[in-house]
Amino acid sequence: MQIAERLMSLSLIRTVLLTAFSFCLAARSLSTSVHLQAQAKSKKTLAKSGVKNVVLVDGVRTPFLLSGTTYADLMPHDLARAALQGLLKRTGLPKDAVDYIVYGTVIQEVKTSNVAREAALGAGFSDKTPAHTVTMACISSNQAMTTAVGLIAAGQCDAVVAGGVEFMSDVPIRHSRKMRKTMLSLNKAKTLGARLSLQNCEKIAIALLVFFIIVVETIFHTLFLLIQLADCCLNFKCGDVIVTGRDIVSKDNGIRPATMEQMAKLKPAFIKPHGTVTAANSSFLTDGASAVLIMSEEKALAMGYKPKAYLRDFVYVSQDPKDQLLLGPTYATPKVLEKSGLTLNDIDVFEFHEAFAGQIMANLKAMESDWFGQTYMGRKTKVGAPPMEKFNTWGGSLSLGHPFAATGCRLVTTVAHRLQKEGGQYGLVAACAAGGQGHAMVIEAYPQ
Ligand SMILES: *[C@@H]1O[C@H](CO)[C@@H](O)[C@H](O)[C@H]1NC(C)=O
Repeated sequence: MQIAERLMSLSLIRTVLLTAFSFCLAARSLSTSVHLQAQAKSKKTLAKSGVKNVVLVDGVRTPFLLSGTTYADLMPHDLARAALQGLLKRTGLPKDAVDYIVYGTVIQEVKTSNVAREAALGAGFSDKTPAHTVTMACISSNQAMTTAVGLIAAGQCDAVVAGGVEFMSDVPIRHSRKMRKTMLSLNKAKTLGARLSLQNCEKIAIALLVFFIIVVETIFHTLFLLIQLADCCLNFKCGDVIVTGRDIVSKDNGIRPATMEQMAKLKPAFIKPHGTVTAANSSFLTDGASAVLIMSEEKALAMGYKPKAYLRDFVYVSQDPKDQLLLGPTYATPKVLEKSGLTLNDIDVFEFHEAFAGQIMANLKAMESDWFGQTYMGRKTKVGAPPMEKFNTWGGSLSLGHPFAATGCRLVTTVAHRLQKEGGQYGLVAACAAGGQGHAMVIEAYPQ
């Protein structure tokens, strides 16, 4: 779209935004009144003597979009930056109050090896705030958050921003090693003669193509940044979701209500024609980013924040990736409960990452099986499965989408919000990850 045309449409968009904004305010006051009615059960706290209390101050995410849709022309750090800016706006945090930034990502963009730093600078954080990127498949932002917890508990930092971004609209397309070698040597040859002697027609054509793509991409990206600047003033927040991008995006777009009959007609997604996994029971390829502000309780209170939750015990587990690939939650759940001195019955809110419906079913089945507990986990009896009425009640990765490295922060923020709304005391996050790994964390409601 032309800039002039865009500017003309700004006033219209502004009107729409103002309407949406007042709607949000109304919705918020509604939800506040629900909060007040909810009564927290008074149970023991999980505070440990000699260990700092670490709190979740707040969390945000961008809308989760099907990859290849409205975010398709962004860069991953643009999306991450939008989440960080959303967090800054939501919390009113002074940008230089942050000691450290940790961000997760799984599929790395080829030119961005440390997306945390790129996004942090773009979002306007102080250039004196260090930032690093972590990766651990679908639990990458869990890893970012627990890194933050560790830095704070060890007394090294007071305020850390953690998050994750996944951008499946532009995955690096890999060539064979032979092709890569050819491209590189073509690039290194000094003279035209040397270049010509290196190549045949095909190689030159590929080099030209690569050059063309790089030039076009650079021009497009620069233009796009300009357009984005014009849009900066339009970014605003609504509920858990922040708005970003060239077009105004305020809603997830992957949610597909469907009847059982419609779902039964779907063709297998991976193994044709006999596979059983379809689009209805797999999480879809998603673009999205999330961010949370984690602080020591003292610092948060000193800065005048009302934290949402305490981040308590957490565990990482790993199993044989061949037979037990996505069973992380089955192993991690009893381990973290034991660490916290809690049982399954003490947990009011469960948020499990859903990679596939089949993966969740397999975990629930394993958790309900004495045989599995005895044979694989060295237990006397089964783990026990979470009751469904407490489980992923605000939607999960299957319906909302699963931007790999952004999901962990969504789970933790959702637990904190559900504890507030439902008046529960403890929540449990669990997630599986490629490579046979898994994670779980106990979250405690902050006294209202
Ligand atoms: C996936 O959903 C299809 C219907 O779309 C169903 O027939 C199939 O049994 C389900 N498979 C798994 C593994 O969840």
